[in-house]
Amino acid sequence: MATVTLTLNGDVRTASVPPETTLLRLLREEFGLTGSKLGCDVGDCGACTVIVDGKSVNSCLMLAVQADGRDVVTIEGLATMSRLHPLQQLFEDKGSLQCGFCGPGVIMSAKALLDENPDPSEQEIRDALAGNLCRCTGYSKMIEAIQAVARDGRGEPAKSAV
Ligand code: FES
Ligand code: FES
Repeated sequence: MATVTLTLNGDVRTASVPPETTLLRLLREEFGLTGSKLGCDVGDCGACTVIVDGKSVNSCLMLAVQADGRDVVTIEGLATMSRLHPLQQLFEDKGSLQCGFCGPGVIMSAKALLDENPDPSEQEIRDALAGNLCRCTGYSKMIEAIQAVARDGRGEPAKSAV
């Protein structure tokens, strides 16, 4: 077994897992954070996207041990009890999702983009979402929502991101 200690949505968490465990399985099966979705498990769909040290990452491709000592933010780290993150709110307001399976990954990719580039062009948004597959929507309402958050300057960092 390998011991992994990481900062997860602002809290220090530790688990002991087999060394081949992916970060996605650590999040879902050890910590019960099932917002990050298991889609393809091979890096093709982006449903498992989380933010590690400020960068969007396919958590199915990263070993849990590689996250040791790092700062990880998942979709569960964005909202507070009383308030959705602006990206979540605008996705809801604009009806940006249909089945929603891709949503957590898309929102985490968008958050990583806005944290780094608060005023992205449409092409930069499309590039940031290139690794997130959505079988339902055609992406245009997602892009509208991300543009609206950027316009409002509401792309706030998650509580653990600095
Ligand atoms: S589940 Fe990770 S990219 Fe598809
Ligand atoms: S809303 Fe269904 S996969 Fe994107």
